Order: sequence, then C-alpha cells, then structure tokens
Amino acid sequence: MDFKKVWPEKRWKKIIFVSLVSIIIVSFIVSIFLYLGINSDVSSELIIVNEQGTAIALLIYHPGFSSFTKDISIAYAEGLELNDWRIIITTANENAPTNISEYDLLILASPVYGGAPSPTIGRYVDRLEDLEETETVIIVTAAGSPGNTVQTMQEIIEQNNGVNNSNNVLFTSAPNEGNESAIVLSKIAGSEIFP
Ligand SMILES: Cc1cc2nc3c(=O)[nH]c(=O)nc-3n(C[C@H](O)[C@H](O)[C@H](O)COP(=O)(O)O)c2cc1C
Repeated sequence: MDFKKVWPEKRWKKIIFVSLVSIIIVSFIVSIFLYLGINSDVSSELIIVNEQGTAIALLIYHPGFSSFTKDISIAYAEGLELNDWRIIITTANENAPTNISEYDLLILASPVYGGAPSPTIGRYVDRLEDLEETETVIIVTAAGSPGNTVQTMQEIIEQNNGVNNSNNVLFTSAPNEGNESAIVLSKIAGSEIFP
C-alpha cells in the first residue's frame, strides 16, 4: 500500500485521520485485554479456610479484573466455616482439584460478562466430566444486570450430573438485597449451608 495515497494533505484531515487510527488501535488493545481477562484461566495458590473442619467444600472462582469475586468467595467461605466446613478455595485453572468425590460441596463463582459467566468456569466443570451428584452452589457477581448467567451455570451443572443447591447474585453497582453490603450477604448465604 502506498502510504502517501492514504495520508491526507490538509491539516484538519490529518488530525481526523490520526484520531481515527488512534481510536482503532486503542479499541483493539482494550478488546484483547478484555478478551484475555474474561477467557483466560488464572493460576492461584490454594487457600484453605478452617483446616480442622469436618465436611469439605471446594470453591472455584474466576478472579475477574477487580478483587470483588475473590472477596465475595472468601466471605462465603467464612460463612461456611461457621458450620464447621473446611473450604478449599482456588481459581478455575488446569491445576485446580478435580477429585470431586472428595468434596461434599462445590461452589462455583463467576463474574458476569455480557450476561454470561466466564468460560473458565464451564471449562473447569468439563474437566471434571462428572460431578457425581455433588451439591453445587452458584455465586454470580455483576454490576447490576446478571442476564441469564445463573441459568447458564445451572445448565453447566446439570449437564455434568451435579445438583444445584442454591444461587447467590451479588452486585457491585446496583443495590444488593436490603441495601446490605455484598460481602455481608455472601457470608450470611454461606452460613445457611449445613453439612
Ligand atoms: C467486559 C465486561 C462485561 C461485563 N458485563 C456485565 C453484564 O453483562 N452485566 C453486569 O451486571 N455486569 C457486567 N460486568 C461487570 C462485572 O460483572 C462486575 O464488575 C463483576 O462483579 C466483577 O467482575 P470484574 O472483577 O471483572 O470487574 C461486566 C464487566 C466487564 C469488564
């Protein structure tokens, strides 16, 4: 391509041209950044809450761009701890535990992206192949419009032979139930699950 043919001669046209090219480049970089953040498995250490607990729960989450989903997951684990659960927490990635028969409860937590959960959660469940009728809790974090995310996660669970125990939807921007903090609500939800 002959660059001189594309490069405008008039100053105002040059400004518009450079602005448009800059917008396209920035949009492209932002799209790649979002795509990777939404779709990529993220490695993390295992966090163990209440090591002495008798019943064992596995909490798998997609971390997202902010700390919200992790904070909500840890709050949920703190609620479970009140009922003597031991909780193993980690992100949805290839090294996350897959020996599902060792767990009494599975919790899947995902942010909402465009009305859907992160694909990392579906990929994790696919790696398990069979949930062996494990009771499974869904946690969805969203700005305020979760769309069909809960239903999509329910389908993922049911297709893999899991049993949907309960669902929790927590908002970052919209008010949560009773104007209560999302963290407090998540801890309460966890405290309502008994071994
Ligand atoms: C690309 C993108 C798409 C999103 N789509 C939705 C959406 O459809 N509905 C919604 O309520 N929140 C949406 N959110 C907000 C996140 O679900 C919300 O911030 C979530 O609680 C935490 O995810 P984060 O840590 O990645 O921000 C979106 C966020 C991003 C970055």
